[in-house]
Amino acid sequence: MILPIHVYGDPVLRKLAEEVDVENTDWKPFVADMFETMYHANGVGLAAPQVGKAIRVFVIDTEPFKESYPDVRIHKGAFINPLITKEWGDDFVFGEGCLSLPNINEDVTRKSNIHIEYYDEEGNFHDEDFDGIAARVIQHEYDHLEGHVFVDRLTPIKKMVLKRQLNDIASGKIKAAYKTVHK
Ligand code: NI
Repeated sequence: MILPIHVYGDPVLRKLAEEVDVENTDWKPFVADMFETMYHANGVGLAAPQVGKAIRVFVIDTEPFKESYPDVRIHKGAFINPLITKEWGDDFVFGEGCLSLPNINEDVTRKSNIHIEYYDEEGNFHDEDFDGIAARVIQHEYDHLEGHVFVDRLTPIKKMVLKRQLNDIASGKIKAAYKTVHK
């Protein structure tokens, strides 16, 4: 089922998302909806707060980067109750966009490497390192669970330049190619 995507300005994107019960809940149907919603909107990642649920779940699929970045680590999967335990390496500048911020793309600087612990939708525990673009997509989605969006990481001047666009998104003036909701 394709879910409507909550856009910038919606308070759900600012909540600290809550941990979920991995053992006693079947997360497969929700994860399937998340993937369907993400693919429908041509996204490479989607976090639960973006579909109105402030819970610690996100999905990613880095496959679409392969054409422009042949060396990208292809990872498709769900991250449930993820915890980034370490970030290290060089500062890596990469252009980010977000399904909750239609038509905005800006360079963001983050560390190149991460270590993350998480569960998948089958309930299996993982403990892995990621780097490059795969790490970047995870860092972006993880921010959503912390109540942050990528424009929070821009300089005040860049944010000022985007102010009108951000206001337009928050007031529902920007139409995306997929179903959105705003508050
Ligand atoms: Ni996003």
